[in-house]
Amino acid sequence: KRVFKHVKFKEKIQYNSKYFISSSIPSKELIANDSIINKKFVPFQKNINSRRTEAKRSILVQVQSAQSYKELYSYCSSFGNVTQMFHYTTGIEPMHFILVEFKNESDVVSTLSSSTFVEGNSTTPVNSQFLWFRSTSKKITKSKHKNAALVIEDGITPMTNDRIRETLQKCNNVTEQILTLYNNTKMTDLECRLRFLTARQMELSVYGMFPHARVLPFGSSVNGFGKMGCDLDVVLTLKDNKEDSSSRLVFHCKDSGVDRSSNLRNLEVFGDLLQLFLPGCARVRKILQARVPIIKYYHQFTDVECDLSMCNVSGVHMSDFLYIMGSIDSRVRPLVFAIRKWAQEVGLTNSSPGRWITNFSLTLLVLAFLQGPLHSPPILPSLNTLVKSAESKDSFITDEGVNCSFLRDIEKLHFSSVNIENLEVLLCEFFEYYSQFDFKSKSVCLNEGVPLTKLDHSALYIINPLERGLNVSKNVSLEELEKFKFAARNAAWILQSEESTNTSNWGLLSIFDKPNKKMAFSVSRNKNERLMQVKQLFEEEDNTDTGHSEVDNRRT
Ligand code: GTP
Ligand code: MG
Repeated sequence: KRVFKHVKFKEKIQYNSKYFISSSIPSKELIANDSIINKKFVPFQKNINSRRTEAKRSILVQVQSAQSYKELYSYCSSFGNVTQMFHYTTGIEPMHFILVEFKNESDVVSTLSSSTFVEGNSTTPVNSQFLWFRSTSKKITKSKHKNAALVIEDGITPMTNDRIRETLQKCNNVTEQILTLYNNTKMTDLECRLRFLTARQMELSVYGMFPHARVLPFGSSVNGFGKMGCDLDVVLTLKDNKEDSSSRLVFHCKDSGVDRSSNLRNLEVFGDLLQLFLPGCARVRKILQARVPIIKYYHQFTDVECDLSMCNVSGVHMSDFLYIMGSIDSRVRPLVFAIRKWAQEVGLTNSSPGRWITNFSLTLLVLAFLQGPLHSPPILPSLNTLVKSAESKDSFITDEGVNCSFLRDIEKLHFSSVNIENLEVLLCEFFEYYSQFDFKSKSVCLNEGVPLTKLDHSALYIINPLERGLNVSKNVSLEELEKFKFAARNAAWILQSEESTNTSNWGLLSIFDKPNKKMAFSVSRNKNERLMQVKQLFEEEDNTDTGHSEVDNRRT
């Protein structure tokens, strides 16, 4: 193994495949904060189900200020058993909200049935778990407040970039920086609750007409790679395909079609429903030309950007796969966070869709790297290993015929890695690996865990693990791929040079500057040539970033 110069304090951290075992832990607090470590693995579906029932037991109430919680507690306690309350603010003129969790779903039912609508010509009464708490002139008895407690106040404000930088500067080594970044930017419990409540609103609103409707979150909100403020991807399904053959009375239903155009028409109707009736849903946009058509909207109460699609349940299984990969080894998620952050800082990723690499593709690149072949034995298994270990209950084939069968419970996985490299080494190796990867002739394949020969001329070819005929990164242009390779080479170079330790922006922070700034003083070999390259690759982007269409390239 190479020795990396920038290691400030050499430490030996040992990992195993499922649990993090550390002989010299960088900081006890860091480890204690990490929810994965030393916790029993909870399968994805179980996790989703418990979050969904948690949402059914919750309401979201707009209040005057955090201090309203005592009165709210007292008021809600007359309808049911309040277990937890979380406060946060959102908006420029801050709106205060308290999420109230009850013990039982029936508590929410009785609370909602005791709630009212304000009289007025312009509003249509709509049922939802979003309410506001109006003031009263009645005297409130103080004794009822004694059990009230806020779990959290001002719960969804992310750390500013400056604050993150300051925190990272204080770390002892790069591994600690990566863990700190992860622990301070990953999605919080409250944010997760708000996302499931947002999905619940849509589900509840169509329940009367579609009793089997489910609105399922997928993507980074649930796959373990979500950071604070990430978007919410949800898929709406209207049927569950469970028929009771013993029943003789059968509902009459209209034939709604199964083709793309009927799917589009239905999605449009739900878009209108959101726009016209559902409280909090704003900036509704229909993006119907994309391969997976979506309705985008912003939820003003939960402060979440949402992408609603229909029938695309393979996205949920993909999230399950990513969740499993992130749970197998405790280094995976922090490493993905560091690499996503790096890509964002150096301008490789962009919040709007286009020819650039997406967070999803980046995550797959990291997972493929951890499957080998650099590591012997690898840190992560191939998808084929999970497929071979699948049991009958893991068998899923979507309506579109996508086979999503693979082992869901990693406790039953016969795979272990004795790889003990720390995050700092892995980060460097990632950059080295992809700066030298033969993108011209090879594709990245998570099914086999090794690169395969490319099937077409796409610049970057990442085989969709669940639909092997598709390339996840088909949207990436050759220029963007070159930028990625160049930035990766540059990051590896910086991390191994003195530059990364000599400034206050050391270690992880040293690779967050765009290459053009850094390279100007750090490169001696082929300086002119490399400067020209950087100039071309990174300065051009200012002229080209704007004005591209909002056609989503996902699911290519
Ligand atoms: P961020 O939202 O950037 O935090 O990450 P994300 O993983 O949620 O990505 P995104 O919102 O773009 O996509 C949501 C999910 O849709 C992903 O996690 C994938 O499961 C799926 N997805 C996104 N892009 C593609 C694609 O190109 N092909 C396929 N098959 N699925 C995709
Ligand atoms: Mg997303």
